Amino acid sequence: MANNTKGRRDFMGMALGGFTALGGIGALYAMKRTWDPLPSVKAAGFTTIDLKDAPENVLVTEKWRGKPIFVLKQSKEMVEKAKKRKDSTAPSFTDLDRLIKIGDDYYMVAVGLCTHLGCIPGYRPETQDFLCACHGGMYNGTADVTKAPPPRGLDIPPFRIDGTKLVLGETGPEYKKMLEDGITLPV
Ligand code: FES
Repeated sequence: MANNTKGRRDFMGMALGGFTALGGIGALYAMKRTWDPLPSVKAAGFTTIDLKDAPENVLVTEKWRGKPIFVLKQSKEMVEKAKKRKDSTAPSFTDLDRLIKIGDDYYMVAVGLCTHLGCIPGYRPETQDFLCACHGGMYNGTADVTKAPPPRGLDIPPFRIDGTKLVLGETGPEYKKMLEDGITLPV
């Protein structure tokens, strides 16, 4: 009887181990699928991303100092919408002021952690918004908050524009202005 119980325990242990391993593989696969980066270089706290070939309305997730960074090139229609919406945290500005302009294109670049309790919101290209599954918070395509409980839009990481590239971790004049205008908190 004792042997039987032990045998069952061993079997359960192996089965659980198998599930854990499978779960791990699944998680890695999901990460590979969602973390499909643009050409980028990482060095000592800086991540340089070349946005030249960024697709419109397709969320790209990069990594900077261990944090997920969302990059979303805006379509013309998204830019027009952003021009007409007041920014929720800095109402004298519009959501266009949350975007980074490189050449003729606009990009949303933000830390991909919900400003409520830090979950990673999911992007929905059909509705061009983010839903945070943890407590139902929502953000629009410029990462401005549209539904509580998040207290503000997604934070924007320090950046400097270098041609078609974005250097995350450096403070360029455009980022400085965003901080001064209250569009984002320092990260
Ligand atoms: S962590 Fe996102 S809504 Fe709570």
